[in-house]
Order: sequence, then structure tokens, then C-alpha cells
Amino acid sequence: MSHKYRILLIVSGGIAAYKSLELIRLLNAISCDVTCILTRGGKNFVTPLSLASLSENKVYEDLFSLNDENEMGHIELSKNCNLVLVAPGSADIIAKMRAGIADDLATTVLLCTKKPIFVAPAMNVRMWENAATRDNLQELTSRGVNFIGPDKGEMACGEYGYGRLSEPNTIANYISDFLISPQEPQINTEVSSQLLFGKKAVVTSGPTHEAIDPVRYVTNHSSGQQGHAIAQALSKHGAETVLVSGPTNLPNPNNIKVVNVKTAIQMLDACEKEMPADVVVCAAAVTDWRIEAPSKQKLKKSEKVKSLKLSENPDILAHLGQKRKNRPPLVIGFAAETEDVIKNAKKKLFEKSCDWVVANKVGADTNTFGGDRNKVQLINKTKTESWPEMSKADVGNRLAIKVAEHLSDLKP
Ligand code: CTP
Repeated sequence: MSHKYRILLIVSGGIAAYKSLELIRLLNAISCDVTCILTRGGKNFVTPLSLASLSENKVYEDLFSLNDENEMGHIELSKNCNLVLVAPGSADIIAKMRAGIADDLATTVLLCTKKPIFVAPAMNVRMWENAATRDNLQELTSRGVNFIGPDKGEMACGEYGYGRLSEPNTIANYISDFLISPQEPQINTEVSSQLLFGKKAVVTSGPTHEAIDPVRYVTNHSSGQQGHAIAQALSKHGAETVLVSGPTNLPNPNNIKVVNVKTAIQMLDACEKEMPADVVVCAAAVTDWRIEAPSKQKLKKSEKVKSLKLSENPDILAHLGQKRKNRPPLVIGFAAETEDVIKNAKKKLFEKSCDWVVANKVGADTNTFGGDRNKVQLINKTKTESWPEMSKADVGNRLAIKVAEHLSDLKP
């Protein structure tokens, strides 16, 4: 069968290595020709013969057996593919990748390849949670290595937690998405990297509704999609996440505590109750005013209401950003602007004492409200980063990775 893409699959040590057989079958089904490198550790769990039979390709094992002119050298192996996938990726191979160790064929190929690298980690939960592994992940993520999983669950050793290899179809789906649109930033919304393990995140999302009477209210166009995606991404990267959401039509994200509120005052109150937190992201489009004395009964047309008396709502972001006991170390706001985006966003950064502002253009000529894509700038006190247009899920993921990097830099 002729395949459209070539994948170099590195199978490293671990009980999950047997899943690489199913993975090869699924990758073949999405038009990928798979060539395997089997590490010495991997060979304890899966045989070269089974990998060769399924992939219908020679399986490479030894760095020094490649000297033969007829064989493909390690440089060729690393060049001759669309991407390199390490599945399962043991704690050991991840540590070697970070350190640049090249003491076998797999690590040598990983050190010399210029192709995108994907790693599906699999290890014991305590190895996964160890500070050394988390540092390695963070460093490799910042170098552009993509991580898929791991999943949470029962382990072969009887323990429970993060560290199970992602299911082969999750890995194959992710690879397929990447191969179809490689120009997309390589961000995996399925990743649960645990970069934010031990951190608490509070995210506001959606609009607020300010009642005029029991049936009418004042609000705005916010769909909540961006805020919900940020909460989901922070959670997937291991943060204990609380989503304080105004009324939206979105389903509650998985595995996240959701506090549903209607008004700005309720939103502020719910955020306060969740303090202290390590990071707060105010993505909600809070209605700036509320009706001073909403009618308890439905207003009748015959009452000829000519005006509504408004009071200013509390500014939740400014409140959480101000100098105070338990101020979160990282307070992030949004600036939805129709004009002078950067200038207005910087003004908000200073006026609301926040650390970062995510700025985006909204209005009739953009599809930001209600659309599933976004083009944002990330602004802090010293610099502005312009991100390419991407899905709101990817904005969330990229932001979550930035948050993880920042919080780890703050470590004493
Ligand atoms: N925000 C908030 N509470 C408010 C108003 C805004 O927490 N009462 C937060 C939003 O969640 C966002 C940021 O402040 O993170 C900026 O919101 P935006 O609507 O762009 O600006 P406003 O402060 O409302 O100012 P303006 O409408 O004048 O642009």
C-alpha cells in the first residue's frame, strides 16, 4: 500500500510498549508508513519481529549496525520522515532528550532530527510527578517538543494517577490532525502535561446578565468559548481549575469545578471565595453596569419606562489585581477592543494592575464573538507578543504553557 506520510516511531522501555503495535495499525490506516526504532528497554516488552510484521519495514535497534552502506544511517533515518514519534516515551528517554544525551540509536536520532518531535509519555505516577520529570517536560515543551498525554488511571504496577500511555487512537488522531494542518501551531489540546501540577487556577468566562426585571436583562455578545477553553487547557496541564461562568450555552468542561453565576456581583463573590490561587484569568465579558433597582415584577409597556438608572459594576480584574493579601502571583486580563487594540490594552494592564493582558479585536469585521478562532496579542509590562490566528482551544493551550513557564520562574 502506498502511504502519504512517513513516521519514525521510537518505542522505548515500559509495559505500555505493547500498545505500539495497535498504534502502528492505526497510523497505517491514516496513510502513514511507519519505521520503528526499538530501544534496548523497549525490547524487553515487544519483539522486533512483531514491530516489523505490523509496520512491514525493517526495525532498527543498534547505532553501530548502521555503518553498512546498504543500511540507512541515523542521519538519514532522522531526515527521511515527516515526524518523529516516541511512544511510549519513558522517563529515561525524556531526561536524555532534555540533556542531549546520544548513547544509542534512538537518542542519537532525536538529537540530530530537525523534524517535529512528538512524545507520548508512559511511566509510574511518582516518576511523572517527580520535579525532575516536570522540569524536563517544561524545558522540552519550550523547545517545541509536543507531548501527547499521558492519561490518568490504574497502572500496571497497581498505583493510580497520571502516567498511563494515551490510548493509541488518541495518539493517532493527534498525529493525523498535525499532518493535515502542519502550519497550525503544534499545540495539543488533548495534552495533560502536568506542567501546572499543584497550582490552582481561577478563570472567569462568559457574559453577565444584569436584570431589568424578572424577564429582561442587559448583557453582551460574549459566548464564553475563549474563557472555557482556557479553563480546560489549564486543567489539562494539571492545575486545579475553577471556572466561574456567567450564563452561556456551552457544556461544562470535564473535570473542572464550575461555579455558575448570573451577575457581576455574584462573579466577584465566587472568585473571592476561591482565593488564594496561583493564577487568575479574567476572560469574562462582565457587563459594566447593573440596573440600580431592578423591578420585582415584569415591567408593563403601559408603564412607559423612559430610562433605566444604572450603577457601575465592580471591576473583578482590578479587584483581584490590586495589592492585597493573597493577591494571586499571576493575574491575567483580557482587552476586547474595537480600535487601538494595543494602546487600550496597555492602559488596562496598568489601570487594573494586572500582570498580562490578552488583547483581541472584536466587532463587526471580526468573527471573535461566537467564532471558534481568535487572534490575540499577549502583553506584559515590557513586551508584546503577537500570536498567529488559531483556534480558541489552542490560544488556551498556549496561554496555559506560558502560565506554567512563568510560575516555575517564580519558584524561590
Ligand atoms: N473586567 C472585570 N470586571 C468588570 C469589567 C471588566 O473583571 N466589571 C475584566 C474583563 O474580564 C477583562 C478586562 O477586565 O479581563 C477588560 O474588560 P473589557 O470589557 O475589555 O474592558 P472594560 O474594563 O469593561 O473597559 P471598556 O469597556 O471601557 O473597554
